[in-house]
Amino acid sequence: MDRDVSASHELRSFGRRRGRKLSPRQETLLGQLLPRISLDVTRPAAPDQLGADDTPLWLEIGFGGAEHLIWQAEHNPAVRIIGCEPFEEGVVKALAQIESNGLGNIRLYTDDARDVLRWLPPACLERCFILFPDPWPKKRHVKRRLVSAATLALVARALKPGGDLRIGTDIGDYARTILIAAAATPQLEWQARSAHDWRIRPDDWPETRYEAKAVREGRQRYFLIFRRTSPHGNG
Ligand SMILES: C[S@@+](CC[C@H](N)C(=O)[O-])C[C@H]1O[C@@H](n2cnc3c(N)ncnc32)[C@H](O)[C@@H]1O
Repeated sequence: MDRDVSASHELRSFGRRRGRKLSPRQETLLGQLLPRISLDVTRPAAPDQLGADDTPLWLEIGFGGAEHLIWQAEHNPAVRIIGCEPFEEGVVKALAQIESNGLGNIRLYTDDARDVLRWLPPACLERCFILFPDPWPKKRHVKRRLVSAATLALVARALKPGGDLRIGTDIGDYARTILIAAAATPQLEWQARSAHDWRIRPDDWPETRYEAKAVREGRQRYFLIFRRTSPHGNG
């Protein structure tokens, strides 16, 4: 199937793709393991890539060093988790742990997660995670921030009714933007009932590298959980 999943008007929301030179082992992981577990969004979104229809499907966008992705895959072996990350060092970290821990329930996409959101069938995800998205702090870069009403509309379409979107950030101004974008997305309902709910990270949400840095540097973290509410139409 020839299908254009990228949207040319979207600004790039991630920084560099390559960092340090890879070791021979990392090169091997990229050359041999990655092709076996990569999503191919030019082919149909069918069970050979997404798992059987009754397999719960989760998506993590921007998994960075893969701490959360690997933890979730280990603790939820019946779930299939798609991890998206364009930064090569993050991808090889995930691959190294997938191999050493023998994890068979992860699929990777090494480019913009919005391609995957557009490619997925409607109402297929039980959970979606966007943990500490790049803050793009300079005023002229704010428009690159990944979480916007447009991105949340893509997430809402892909989530099952009752499915959750979890977003973490350590930037107060970004938390506000996220809440405004969610308020403009009628299918998503913020689940917080008291300040405790957004200040305290749930037990089944392990700390990531970026969160640890925020803690060290004394920044408040915001743990925002949204639920997909109304029934779907045709997607
Ligand atoms: C600030 S880091 C946080 C990484 C990790 N989630 C954590 O909490 O440690 C944000 C990550 O999101 C990735 N990213 C940014 N835009 C993305 C996109 N459109 N699709 C997939 N990943 C993206 C970046 O490459 C980066 O690794």
